[in-house]
Amino acid sequence: MVNDNKDKEIEIQANDELLDKEIGSSPAAGESIDAWKDALSSRSTAVPKNIIVPSTQAHSVKPTVTRRTFVKGTFWTGFGVTILGFVGIFLDFFWPRGVEKFAGPYPVGNINDFKPGAPPVRFKAAQTWIVNLDPNDTSEVGGKGGSGLLALWQKCPHLGCAVPWRGGFNFNGDDGWFRCPCHGSTYTKAGVRVFGPAPRSMDTFELSVDAQGNLTVHTDKVIPGDEDNPVRAKTIDDISNSEA
Ligand code: FES
Repeated sequence: MVNDNKDKEIEIQANDELLDKEIGSSPAAGESIDAWKDALSSRSTAVPKNIIVPSTQAHSVKPTVTRRTFVKGTFWTGFGVTILGFVGIFLDFFWPRGVEKFAGPYPVGNINDFKPGAPPVRFKAAQTWIVNLDPNDTSEVGGKGGSGLLALWQKCPHLGCAVPWRGGFNFNGDDGWFRCPCHGSTYTKAGVRVFGPAPRSMDTFELSVDAQGNLTVHTDKVIPGDEDNPVRAKTIDDISNSEA
């Protein structure tokens, strides 16, 4: 036990000497300024190897991301994702689909291709539906007795989506309506609006026919759609006479 204490004293003395040696001793009071300068310049800042800093004196390491920063970051990230989601839904709702630029006259087949009362025929390049209204069909969906050929612009008057013909869609007991896929505006075979957000009926184009019965739709001559769409339908004789 006595030997152990002696060993510790010797070790402490050795450490003190090592510290004096590595850190350097200060000049006595009254020494010259040069002596102080020499002492300072020879002083080492190295920490002796066998000095242990007690854990109670050690500084705790602060986290680089605090809880406040983490909570704020989570909030703003969630907020940003929510706003982006709303913007995406808004664009998806209002973005027109299936509409391409076009203009001018387009051939759309022969008058014999269109039978009265038959389902509308689409011409994609002309963005046109050709319908042949049957004068015997006096139902609302059938055109209320309108007679003859009508060229409808497929562009929905609401926000411009391409309106398809839905032969199997039943409304008011009748099958077969034009129905916009974007917001549900629904039209008769003559393109008359029956419900939905569209502000008017489907627009119509001018039609012409040559001596062989070939039809041309004039997509640069648009007539805004209205309740009188069925009356705009023309029989072959009407179209031929208007050409004469
Ligand atoms: S684009 Fe809105 S109802 Fe057709």
